[in-house]
Amino acid sequence: MKWLNVARHNFHFKSRLEPQSVLQVPSILIDILPLISEARLFKCPVEIEYMRRAAQISALAHKRLMEQCRPGQMEYQLEAWFNAYCLENGCRGLAYNSIVASGNNSCTLHYVANDQAIKNNDLILVDAGGEYNYYAADITRTYPANGKFTKEQRQIYELVLRAQLAGIDQVKPGNRWNSVQDTMVKIITTGLLELGILKGDLQQLLTTKAHRQFYMHSSGHWLGMDVHDVGDYKVDGNWRTFEPGMVLTVEPGIYIHNSTKNIDSKWLGIGIRIEDDLLVTSNGNEVLSSLAPKQIAEIERG
Ligand code: GLY
Ligand code: MN
Ligand code: MN
Repeated sequence: MKWLNVARHNFHFKSRLEPQSVLQVPSILIDILPLISEARLFKCPVEIEYMRRAAQISALAHKRLMEQCRPGQMEYQLEAWFNAYCLENGCRGLAYNSIVASGNNSCTLHYVANDQAIKNNDLILVDAGGEYNYYAADITRTYPANGKFTKEQRQIYELVLRAQLAGIDQVKPGNRWNSVQDTMVKIITTGLLELGILKGDLQQLLTTKAHRQFYMHSSGHWLGMDVHDVGDYKVDGNWRTFEPGMVLTVEPGIYIHNSTKNIDSKWLGIGIRIEDDLLVTSNGNEVLSSLAPKQIAEIERG
């Protein structure tokens, strides 16, 4: 506005001397970014096709890693297979730096070193997605390197999966953005209490947000041309309601870093996240990344 006022003053002054050179100086400024953000939040049919394709290719890349992963491999070998599969199948690149985290590394949220050897009994957390025609996928799967969950890994996995499926059920027109996180937090808190990882009274644990020690991020984000895409999460101070054409991730996790104090050592080093990409439809949602296996029976190997 200051610059425009200077321009207006100068042109006004000049116009007296040279009326033929009068220029129009805008009197209002409108920020176009919110308009673009809003347009990007609602995907049209061709954008949905690209996002479906990005998610399908990426989901099959995850499936390939699950089948090929073995103790003794390096994390970056899995990264290489993921990248290669995406590029062989139509993606021009990756949507973001892949996270391939084995063992305790899975408890570091943005672990991208990917340079450790995978050990027997490690879980592998892979958060990776390809980009197809400029549209991103963002998928996480966690599975046992040797094909079989330990008892404790399975207990935490079942809890995260239960929370994620309930969170996904909340994604439908009319429900608000926060209903996903609220639902998942209740399930995770209850589950951690049942497993003895959290202790105390459920209501008290919910009030004090005790889950944050082990689940310290939000339920997900808008997804589109960017991984953490544009679009407001609140409108006039209220959580936004889902509408058809929106695309988002649902990605609960539980991370028990091996430095955690006052906890039975059998839980240490377990980090699990399950992340899918969802399109809001007129009566619910479509899981765009459903080709990536996540049921225990599908991901364990004999
Ligand atoms: N890959 C980044 C995220 O899951 O938000
Ligand atoms: Mn994500
Ligand atoms: Mn992710």
